Amino acid sequence: MAAEFKLAGVMGWPIAQSRSPILHNYWIEKYNLSGRYVPLAVRSERLADAIRGLPALGFRGCNLTMPHKQLAMTMVDEVTDTAKRIGAINCIVVGDDGRMSGTNNDGNGYVLSVQEVAPQWKPSDGPIAILGAGGAARAIIVALVERGARDLRLINRTFEKAERLAKEFSPNVKPITWDKRSEAIGDVVLLVNATDQGMIGKPALDISLDRLSKQTLVSDLIYVPPETSFLAAAKARGNVTINGLGMLLHQARPAFEAWFGVLPEITPDLRKRIMDTFKT
Ligand code: ATR
Repeated sequence: MAAEFKLAGVMGWPIAQSRSPILHNYWIEKYNLSGRYVPLAVRSERLADAIRGLPALGFRGCNLTMPHKQLAMTMVDEVTDTAKRIGAINCIVVGDDGRMSGTNNDGNGYVLSVQEVAPQWKPSDGPIAILGAGGAARAIIVALVERGARDLRLINRTFEKAERLAKEFSPNVKPITWDKRSEAIGDVVLLVNATDQGMIGKPALDISLDRLSKQTLVSDLIYVPPETSFLAAAKARGNVTINGLGMLLHQARPAFEAWFGVLPEITPDLRKRIMDTFKT
């Protein structure tokens, strides 16, 4: 008997830019599975209908991307504590009984992407600075705090937003004003850009790395371009750098396992496949 055909996908609006179909279908082929991962162009006003339809359509689950991550959280049967803290889900798993559970693997994926490059590093090792306080920053803060981060400096252009997040999450998260960004990073073990500055079509992140220790791990959530000028400047000083592709890949692994029953591998060939899709 042929194995059951398994379906999963990603809901977003717009959706054509998502690389998740390439990523998951690569793994489906690699592990000889019977299934398909499809892009699902869903407008916000139809999101509830689309999510409710997943079990009827035989979907094992789906990912959620912009602009649905927050709203979708209110439309599933259960949500993990981590996702509740983040305030968003990026993944739905449909159980055999049709119940839908929402998870958020973004923050965990981020931590794993850093540990892939620096296996010894732990969030509790020493001070961490995060630039930005949007949705991506929230996921990372939650993961770092859950894993014992004790000194998390949250540096944001709009200070009030950093203050609000600090109050919400932990006394270990300290808000810092944008004008202090270059001096606040001198002794950090990990520096993260979670703003959109440096993304293709946007200006470069405006920060001086002069005071940064050469031991600091420098990461950028952006992966288009693969090396932002922020990462290039850090690399030129001798710092180890990490772009955002690892976060995308590492958040995808547990989702793929939940839907398709195999914990897939991240290989150089897969990384290349994804990055090649950005070449013109
Ligand atoms: P995401 O959900 O991807 O994290 P977002 O919620 O739009 O995106 O957040 C974007 C982040 O980039 C915010 O922290 C934003 O700062 P504000 O809170 O002040 O808006 C930051 N950002 C955007 N433009 C910026 C700029 N020119 N300089 C510094 N930070 C900027």
